[in-house]
Amino acid sequence: MSENEENLIFNPSQQVIDGAIVKEYDQLYKYSIENREAFWAEQAEMLGWYKKWDKVLDSSNPPFYKWFVGAKTNIIHNAIDRHQTTANRNKLAFLWEGEDGLVRTFSYHALNREVSQFASVLKSMGVVKGDIVTIYMPQIPELVFAMLACAKIGAAHSVVYGGFSSEALLERITDAKSRVVITADGGFRRGKATQLKDIVNKALEMCSVVEVVITVRRTGEDVYMENDRDYWYHDLKALPIASTKCETEVMNSEDMLFLLYTSGSTGKPKGLVHTHGGYSVYTSTTHRMVFDIKPEDRFWCAADPGWITGHSYIVYGPLINGSTIFLYEGAPNHPYPDRWWKMIDKYGITILYTSPTAIRGLMRYGESWVNRHDISGLRLLGSVGEPISPEAWKWYHRVVGKGKAPIMDTWWQTETGGFMITPIPITPLKPGSATKPFFGNELGVVDDEGNDVKTGEQGNLVIKAPWPGMTCCINEDKERYYDTYWKRFEKQGWYSAGDAARIDKDGYYWIIGRTDDVIKVSGYRLGTAEVESALATHHLVAEAAVIAVPHELKGNAIHAFVVLRHGTEQSRVLEAELKEHVGKVMGPIAKPEAVVFVDLLPKTRSGKIMRRVLKARALGLDEGDLSTLEE
Ligand code: WTA
Repeated sequence: MSENEENLIFNPSQQVIDGAIVKEYDQLYKYSIENREAFWAEQAEMLGWYKKWDKVLDSSNPPFYKWFVGAKTNIIHNAIDRHQTTANRNKLAFLWEGEDGLVRTFSYHALNREVSQFASVLKSMGVVKGDIVTIYMPQIPELVFAMLACAKIGAAHSVVYGGFSSEALLERITDAKSRVVITADGGFRRGKATQLKDIVNKALEMCSVVEVVITVRRTGEDVYMENDRDYWYHDLKALPIASTKCETEVMNSEDMLFLLYTSGSTGKPKGLVHTHGGYSVYTSTTHRMVFDIKPEDRFWCAADPGWITGHSYIVYGPLINGSTIFLYEGAPNHPYPDRWWKMIDKYGITILYTSPTAIRGLMRYGESWVNRHDISGLRLLGSVGEPISPEAWKWYHRVVGKGKAPIMDTWWQTETGGFMITPIPITPLKPGSATKPFFGNELGVVDDEGNDVKTGEQGNLVIKAPWPGMTCCINEDKERYYDTYWKRFEKQGWYSAGDAARIDKDGYYWIIGRTDDVIKVSGYRLGTAEVESALATHHLVAEAAVIAVPHELKGNAIHAFVVLRHGTEQSRVLEAELKEHVGKVMGPIAKPEAVVFVDLLPKTRSGKIMRRVLKARALGLDEGDLSTLEE
């Protein structure tokens, strides 16, 4: 970023400052890091607990930190139960619009009934506390009900993004040992019905752990249902067992709430674990303070519930805060590029939280599509998932925010559970910077030895102290958790984020991007190793390496370099076939943008692929030090 951009500042209006819940940053930040446990205890006091904690933070065995030790809770107690005895009971909890225009709405009372019914059904199908249920669904209300129903009865959910392939789904079901899978016949996307149940059926042909599949009817398309395994949700819901009364299970603060698979730099996806107590406190506090939540807000987080952003800021944070949430099923440009703006107008959405990829995509159609609708009710905007370019930031601010809605550019990760670096509405903003650490958080940008880099210089982003939203571990693999995040700076005891960043002269953070072998494509997180092994499963591929190259719409695109098996002819047809193959193995988002055939991959003498050399060549840059190159 140039000096110029660092000096461009958007100050909040007096109206924003006057209305803000948190009116001051510096002092509260200082207090929050000097009195970390007291600060988090104060936030936790705002929630309901069956039994309060004996200790806010147990740091006796780092990095295996425990939050709110000894407390008894259930996230559902705060997200649903507590609202039943307040004015929120008849407040709108959830507004949903299908791509086909179908609208469904639920008050907190209705949400409670739906979730309790789903929970009763799960119980009757033998789900017990401690089970892990896999959920593979389109963006329909039942996805949210299913997640909440699992939590209510003390089962953990593992939501697998509906864009993943049957192979990817199978891998996650098997790793989680899910006995029960919840799915739907499909959903609508760009006017067509997706075939989710078929993908589940295919995954289960190769799997013996699943005993029960519950299928929600959405599209009405014909699907294959297997006797004694497959049940329609509407059939189960009609039975007397599907009671609208269901006790919420009492959980320990540190009990597993969910498992969420995410790509890392090596090997298969990691199942990250989040827990009931700390996660409840962290998601609700960050949501309330950063989005300045008022009772009358209508909050739209336009992520897919299948990713962490959806878990924390469609479902849990907002419901704990008693907000009205909005969920939309389909494509942003269906049937026309003004679909989002039309819905924001129609439902009176006041806060929109989305990704730079979505913004770039909508920007492409031009502002006249936005200006057809009255979206002046938007008072705050948010961005997440990848760095937002100053250009996209300014468009978002001017065209969508009408020059008055501040943009909360939130940096965080699946692992962190919630926002780590983010403005609050009163923060003076610099387009492209996520600004400063959220309360309670200490971060830094350091060199490989752990020394602070100079102001303005690029380095490794680290988190220096524990926070309540942090993942507690990788499911059943403590060692991998330690090795992945904590080993690099083990002397200092810091969490290594895997991102490069800079801090400018005003203490603002500028996130540059991943430093490890994780690629962000349209904000989706993919591992180079996963894409490479997907390519390697093709019978004509001997070896493959993939890199990220900048892409105007997607942020990054995947370029694959492939060595074919001896005697295989290179062709355009094979190029296209390999792209399709990756799409089939992993899911459409992982399809490489380009496949380049090479005779050899650049490797070090110890056999490690030098992706940096491939990248330099692809971008026409200096290849740097090649002394370790084998050939
Ligand atoms: C990137 C998504 C720049 C970053 C919540 C991080 C961002 C990874 C931002 C985590 C942002 C997320 N600015 N980069 N505001 N937010 N990232 O686990 O590289 O899907 O490490 O979590 O996304 O991706 P994940």
